[in-house]
Amino acid sequence: MSFRLQPSPPARPNRCQLFGPGSRPALFEKMAASAADVINLDLEDSVAPDDKPEARRNIIQAINDIDWGGKHLSVRINGLDTPWWYRDVVEVLEQAGDRIDQIMIPKVGCASDVYAVDALVTAVERAKGREKPVALEVIIETAAGIAHVEEIAASSPRLQAMSLGAADFAASMGMQTTGIGGTQEDYYMIRDGQKYWSDPWHWAQTAIVAACRTHGVLPVDGPFGDFSDDAGFIAQAKRSATLGMVGKWAIHPRQVALANEVFTPSEAKVTEAREILAAMAKAKAEGAGAAVYKGRLVDIASIRQAEVIVRQAEMITAGRS
Ligand code: COA
Ligand code: MG
Repeated sequence: MSFRLQPSPPARPNRCQLFGPGSRPALFEKMAASAADVINLDLEDSVAPDDKPEARRNIIQAINDIDWGGKHLSVRINGLDTPWWYRDVVEVLEQAGDRIDQIMIPKVGCASDVYAVDALVTAVERAKGREKPVALEVIIETAAGIAHVEEIAASSPRLQAMSLGAADFAASMGMQTTGIGGTQEDYYMIRDGQKYWSDPWHWAQTAIVAACRTHGVLPVDGPFGDFSDDAGFIAQAKRSATLGMVGKWAIHPRQVALANEVFTPSEAKVTEAREILAAMAKAKAEGAGAAVYKGRLVDIASIRQAEVIVRQAEMITAGRS
């Protein structure tokens, strides 16, 4: 371990982030009643340019009026290359009460993008005497974003989460894809005449996970566009969970249960993790640094892996009560 200890990310479940357009207020009560840990009310790409002012009003009213329970409530603002973002921040934070938890910044390309929003958020908080600090989350969805991912992860103490936005990312990278996330037809290897599909998102995901883990930020997988393809969603989510991501977006309510299922450690996994911890505690008591568990070597690194799973399970159980 480096002299500098790895900081812990915020201790809250972030298994599913459910999105809904700010221009469709009829969805808001349904979003509040869903099983998603995080709600993202959108002002960006799901809202047409002419509808932005009304969407802001809808979102402000919804933050103030709807019972969001224990959900982490976030508003996605427009990108810093648009004329809308500053009004998104100012109007929402001036007019919505303390129930809002977070602002999501899309298409972040460098740490200064976060700095700019942080400065504006800070000014509004001071002017209005807001007592609860607003958190930030960002989307990595451009070539610049992934090139500067570590400085972005380190950019602000407000930053709690970072998502990979597959569709805009693919466009910015010039990737020849059309689907939002998941398997891409032309990304395959050949062996003995057989095609084997590989994962074109793998590199960006691991870069995000490494940056996030270095700086105590939650790494999250973004949207999976084909909401009729449950198996495709689950496969993508399982790969993300295996790589260290803590959750995934839902762009349709049917994806919420799928994400919750994948990102809640299974009972079998938690039991195994506890058994590994017990085996290691016994080895330690006997003066050994390693032990055998079900025919496999477990050592002090296994304790850390097992602790990740147990901590995640305990945090989710705590969130339910
Ligand atoms: N949150 C909560 N409920 C939702 C919902 C959402 N995002 N999207 C749809 N629903 C509800 C519908 O109102 C409907 O409810 P009902 O059974 O009470 O009538 C039910 O879920 C089934 O909806 P369906 O008819 O299949 O979807 P739709 O055609 O109304 O909407 C989308 C489909 C994709 C347009 C819509 O889900 C959506 O806007 N998703 C979010 C898009 C977004 O925010 N993108 C930005 C991030 S990538
Ligand atoms: Mg996007």
